[in-house]
Amino acid sequence: MVRYIRGLTVWSLLLVVALVPISVSGAAMGGKLEIFSWWTAGGEAEGLSGMFSVFKRLYPGVEIVNATVAGGAGTNAKAVLATRLTGGDPPDSFQVHAGLEVQKYDPAGFLDPLDTLFKSEGWEKVFPTGLLTLLRYQGHYWSVPVNIHRANVMWYSKKVFAANYLTPPKTFDEFFKVAGTLKARGIVPFVLGDKEGWEAGHAFEAVLIGTLGADAYRGLWTGTTPWTDARVAQALNTFKRMLTYTNSDHAALTWDGAGQYLIDAKGAMEIMGDWENGWFQSKNYADYGWAPPPGNTGVFDALSDSFSLPKKAPDRENAMNWLKVAGSKAGQEAFNPKKGSICARTDCSQSLFNPYLQSAAKDWRSNALVPSVIHGAAAFESWATQYKDALALFVTSGDVAKTQATLQAACKDAGVCK
Ligand code: GAL
Repeated sequence: MVRYIRGLTVWSLLLVVALVPISVSGAAMGGKLEIFSWWTAGGEAEGLSGMFSVFKRLYPGVEIVNATVAGGAGTNAKAVLATRLTGGDPPDSFQVHAGLEVQKYDPAGFLDPLDTLFKSEGWEKVFPTGLLTLLRYQGHYWSVPVNIHRANVMWYSKKVFAANYLTPPKTFDEFFKVAGTLKARGIVPFVLGDKEGWEAGHAFEAVLIGTLGADAYRGLWTGTTPWTDARVAQALNTFKRMLTYTNSDHAALTWDGAGQYLIDAKGAMEIMGDWENGWFQSKNYADYGWAPPPGNTGVFDALSDSFSLPKKAPDRENAMNWLKVAGSKAGQEAFNPKKGSICARTDCSQSLFNPYLQSAAKDWRSNALVPSVIHGAAAFESWATQYKDALALFVTSGDVAKTQATLQAACKDAGVCK
């Protein structure tokens, strides 16, 4: 993890635009290609279909099977996939977050390393060094990254802020002032949809970052910041107070369902990853603004989606060609502007991206980069799940001391804390 952070920092300093020829070549073939992901919402589904179009242009004879299991952050998909892998029935390629998440799928047992492909495609020259470091697990690359997402964005309704003569809060104190004003006027200040159980943990990452700062937040995952730290309790107390400003139907809504509050100008702010930007686009909603959540200025909470190659992929040649498309400039330029993410490659044309994504690309190069836990970058899946469940429970219990103790125990279970 430390190497990852160091790598990301080095990368952000050494951003080089490497123009490597795309090595996707078109040999018409037949058969199937089953791609497994959880991309069913607006924006993410369009992004995936954009990448499929690039594949179809190159391999028109191949039938693509779009195997999706709905549920943000892979809440449902990951379990289905694990069962398919252990049951000897894998798809040809599947979505996995870059980072420690891959451990869940026992890569040595079920996946093929992709080191040779990374060499032959020249990917070590076009993906950021920090991302390459994040992708290497047990000395190998196991997946091909298609994007970089930012988890810590506060989306807001411009209409609501303008109508109430308010500006997006930069600190938690400002947040509570703004929230108080909006609540009194009948607007939901802090929109949440936590139906799937991961969304509270997602928003809380931003509260931790905003309370501890980038270095101490990273330390929570590497063992240099104890979970017993008073600032963790402070972050939980802040989050508890924020939760008093949410919509009453939050437990019934998914992240995108909750976004409708902003579209309808009935809600003001939502902390969500930048796939929300892809979703807004898919709804033709343009009147949104974005800002770092309180205390998050200058910090980019990062994650990356990637695709793996199961050892028993039934259509291996098609799967290899899919991975080449996924890592190519053409594939990433077709995917990311719709997905609401920036390219994993450093050579995509910025003119294809909307103003939000252009600003995200700049922030990625200049901000302090920290790893997202809910989205597979910071910790093994077992630890990430314990964190996720603790925060999901916290939404209803509000028990700061107990939640902090659970988070500390999870760190111990992971072998990172004493
Ligand atoms: C994340 C994933 C994103 C997006 C989001 C919501 O885990 O990395 O690409 O799909 O979940 O589903």
